[in-house]
Amino acid sequence: MGLYQALKRVVPLEWKVGFHRHKKLPKHLATRVKNRLDAQLPIPPSKLIYLVAGHRDVGVFLQSGRATNQTIRRLLNKHGLNVEQFESVLDFGCGVGRIMRHWSATPGPQWHGTDYNPDLINWCKNNLKFAEFRLNTLSGPLPYDDASFDFIYVFSVFTHLDERLGFFWINELSRVLKPGGYLYFTTHGEYFLEGMSTEERKQFLEGKLVIREEQRSGENVCAVFHPVNYVQQKLAHDLLVVDFVPGNENNDTEQDVHLVKKPLSR
Ligand SMILES: C[S@@+](CC[C@H](N)C(=O)[O-])C[C@H]1O[C@@H](n2cnc3c(N)ncnc32)[C@H](O)[C@@H]1O
Repeated sequence: MGLYQALKRVVPLEWKVGFHRHKKLPKHLATRVKNRLDAQLPIPPSKLIYLVAGHRDVGVFLQSGRATNQTIRRLLNKHGLNVEQFESVLDFGCGVGRIMRHWSATPGPQWHGTDYNPDLINWCKNNLKFAEFRLNTLSGPLPYDDASFDFIYVFSVFTHLDERLGFFWINELSRVLKPGGYLYFTTHGEYFLEGMSTEERKQFLEGKLVIREEQRSGENVCAVFHPVNYVQQKLAHDLLVVDFVPGNENNDTEQDVHLVKKPLSR
């Protein structure tokens, strides 16, 4: 496809209107055009990127998804696991496929994604055809049988679930995980202490959850902070701790990473 045709397909209306005024393509547009010319997977519209990530930067969207994907791979490798060896993998709260899209060339597993937001899931269904996507509800069972997955990853979802929903979802994910399967999930941990109020910090240091905008659980405005002991001794106490990586500005994420395993028998 030539540059002109590619531009016509990816340039949003507001840019078409005043396009002649811009001598150089804005960076996000140049990234979209290059992506199209390179025949890469489609990039979601900026409003959907904003919904999951709180920004509209296409470059950051692609780069951060790639980095998270590599972090997941590296942590599995550290424990002698390769994602290629799994039969079935679930991305829970997959959003608009920020991480999922980077598995497209990885052979082995069947890839599944689920989210409770129909706009995000519809975009994924229409554009990331190598994976299968389903819609779930905020607090209802997942549309999968018991013991369906060898590996489930959950990036920045428990960070937006109140205490009741947190317990509901850890149990539900555990149900669909095979015995001996692995669950990778992230939380806001100690790294975020600095931005907390005195009262929040006290609560967190006492090992309690800190929840902002609790009535909007599931939405990004509901921000939840988990002390690591709370995660290991309460939230995920039925699962075996395999690894814990504290959030750090040098990691690809400032969020804590937990890798846990479902016991072979309970
Ligand atoms: C911060 S975004 C992260 C999206 C994606 N994991 C990523 O890393 O790009 C949080 C996601 O969790 C989803 N979510 C929140 N509550 C959910 C629930 N109960 N079931 C499924 N998805 C949920 C939201 O729709 C949103 O896509």
